[in-house]
Amino acid sequence: MKDGLHVAIILDGNGRWAKRRGLPRNAGHRAGMEAIKKTVLASCELGIKILSLFAFSTENWKRSQKEIDGIFGILRDYLDENIEVYKEKGINLRIMGDLSKLPEDISKKLISAQEETASCDKLIVNVGINYGGRDELVRAFNLLLKEGKSIVSAEDIKKKLYTHDLPDPDLVIRTSGEQRLSNFMLFQCAYSELYFPKILWPDFNKKALKKALSVYKKRDRRFGNVTEEKK
Ligand code: IPE
Ligand code: IPE
Ligand code: MG
Repeated sequence: MKDGLHVAIILDGNGRWAKRRGLPRNAGHRAGMEAIKKTVLASCELGIKILSLFAFSTENWKRSQKEIDGIFGILRDYLDENIEVYKEKGINLRIMGDLSKLPEDISKKLISAQEETASCDKLIVNVGINYGGRDELVRAFNLLLKEGKSIVSAEDIKKKLYTHDLPDPDLVIRTSGEQRLSNFMLFQCAYSELYFPKILWPDFNKKALKKALSVYKKRDRRFGNVTEEKK
């Protein structure tokens, strides 16, 4: 299970997708939810083992209350409509982020969805909600301090991340053409391959995912070493 490909996606461009159509931003988020459904199923079909999705960042609270309420309403609908599908397809839903700031009914749904799908092992869908890479690292250091540690190793830190039992992402895709991480999986992405397609998130689909995988396959991952023929 842990040896498969880990693809992480910073899903960006919902607002621009809506703007181009003269629609409100939340129509873009609703269309983005459809793209999530398609991408989760395509990931199963393509044999990806872990799909991390950045859905709501610790910085996204800066947006208008109307947009935030819209996003959480869409998330509520997504959970209601998809947990049975996850169980049928053998998909384990996992959440990374601080759930304590979310509407209570949603944090409860997320916790029970994680429990209900815990034994599923075809694909892990790991969703960042109220997630920030810095927030995760601060949390990890504070957990270590609480344990009485005064000096820590990278291994100690890894053990306290939300993703402590997952391998690092092999490939990070950010849609919409923006080329930044925006506080996503900062510790885990140290050696991930990065890919920035122009496609806006609501237009993302199996074809776009296959293209990303074909780009990834051509990359030469060296991890600080040199390639064999140069040795
Ligand atoms: C990504 O789309 C979804 C979230 C960050 C919640 P955006 O809402 O950031 O879309 P743009 O960047 O405004 O187009
Ligand atoms: C990153 O997208 C966060 C998510 C995809 C959840 P943003 O649209 O919030 O990032 P910035 O503000 O453009 O960096
Ligand atoms: Mg954006």
